[in-house]
Amino acid sequence: MTSPNAFISIQNVSKFFGTFRAIDDVSMDIGRGEFFSLLGASGCGKTTLLRMLAGFESTSQGEIYIDGQPMSEVPPHHRPVNMVFQSYAIFPHLNVRDNIAYGLRKQKLPKARRDEMVDEMLDLIKLPGYGSRKANELSGGQRQRIALARALILRPKVLLLDEPLGALDKQLREQMQLELRALQRQVGITFVFVTHDQEEALTLSDRIAVMSGGRVLQLDTPAGLYETPKSRAVASFIGNINFFRGTVRRNGGPTGAVEAEGLGVVPVPAEQLARPDGAPVLVAVRPEKFALSASRPADAAHAVAGRLKNAAYLGERSHYYLQIEGRDEPVAVSSQNLGGIGAAAGERGDATFWISWSPDSMVILEAE
Ligand SMILES: Nc1ncnc2c1ncn2[C@@H]1O[C@H](COP(=O)(O)OP(=O)(O)OP(=O)(O)O)[C@@H](O)[C@H]1O
Ligand SMILES: [Mg+2]
Repeated sequence: MTSPNAFISIQNVSKFFGTFRAIDDVSMDIGRGEFFSLLGASGCGKTTLLRMLAGFESTSQGEIYIDGQPMSEVPPHHRPVNMVFQSYAIFPHLNVRDNIAYGLRKQKLPKARRDEMVDEMLDLIKLPGYGSRKANELSGGQRQRIALARALILRPKVLLLDEPLGALDKQLREQMQLELRALQRQVGITFVFVTHDQEEALTLSDRIAVMSGGRVLQLDTPAGLYETPKSRAVASFIGNINFFRGTVRRNGGPTGAVEAEGLGVVPVPAEQLARPDGAPVLVAVRPEKFALSASRPADAAHAVAGRLKNAAYLGERSHYYLQIEGRDEPVAVSSQNLGGIGAAAGERGDATFWISWSPDSMVILEAE
């Protein structure tokens, strides 16, 4: 059974290479027209899962459905998918037009129609007039766009992209990310995008599956992963975060509080605290959720003083490391430099500052 909104449904899929389990009982649904990313460190199984969707790799257990159809008996060329690889796999001996039209050669199309389709693609990837160029007369970013056009011209229902921007430098990569997202909205097909770059995944995706060791740790929207990570692993993989050891303090009532090292006793919403009194927890707070000030803010319910150990000026923001009482490791605080250079950025040693925060910004996780 697949859920009605699922365009791709991966159900209890495992993949063994010999006795090694590269994919471990993965289940997820991907919606029609969704920009979906698989994110995880090298070796976590992203490419393996993508290759199973494409049909280049069989599943050892479980089933993959695309558009309601089970895929196990369907060979790659009969699946409604196309794949774009990390290294821009375009033919060096063909010009741009012939590269883009390559997949159409088996379809018996009139030449005029084929030319029209190639022109449409050249417009879409913003390279009109490049048709007669040779592959070796193009930049890396241009080649990558040709590879995309060559896949898109076949009108697949699903485009599988395996780190397609991996070979590009940072600036070009960021530009291509925006173009890729705009292109996906324009053509409206489902993208399954593989990356190990968390910023890239956050920028591009409707939803992200964070993978580790062949499993899905959490599947959520970019904001969901960032604001409400469900585990230490996800919290630390996506962005920067401070962890504090903590203990649940119920005080006999339905609402509760958590006592976190250095932060004191802080009331937290009941739904965050479905644990008994005295249970150990891990409290996670993002560096930008702390407000930094030179004196205790009058209106702050929760604030502690700390000694400045280190500061780093990063242009639009500064990072501060404050030693607070009751915690060994300094607390990382990130603050936007709205009025020019940050208040504490010039100071290096032992000045006292205050950090204040809202209890909402404390994420309560399982203690380890
Ligand atoms: N054909 C194969 N035979 C044996 N082991 C394999 C095979 N293909 C992949 N693996 C193993 O499966 C695991 C997952 O590999 P996979 O290529 O899916 O990782 P990945 O997440 O794409 O990593 P990367 O970010 O480095 O590309 C790795 O440990 C890899 O060594
Ligand atoms: Mg890979």
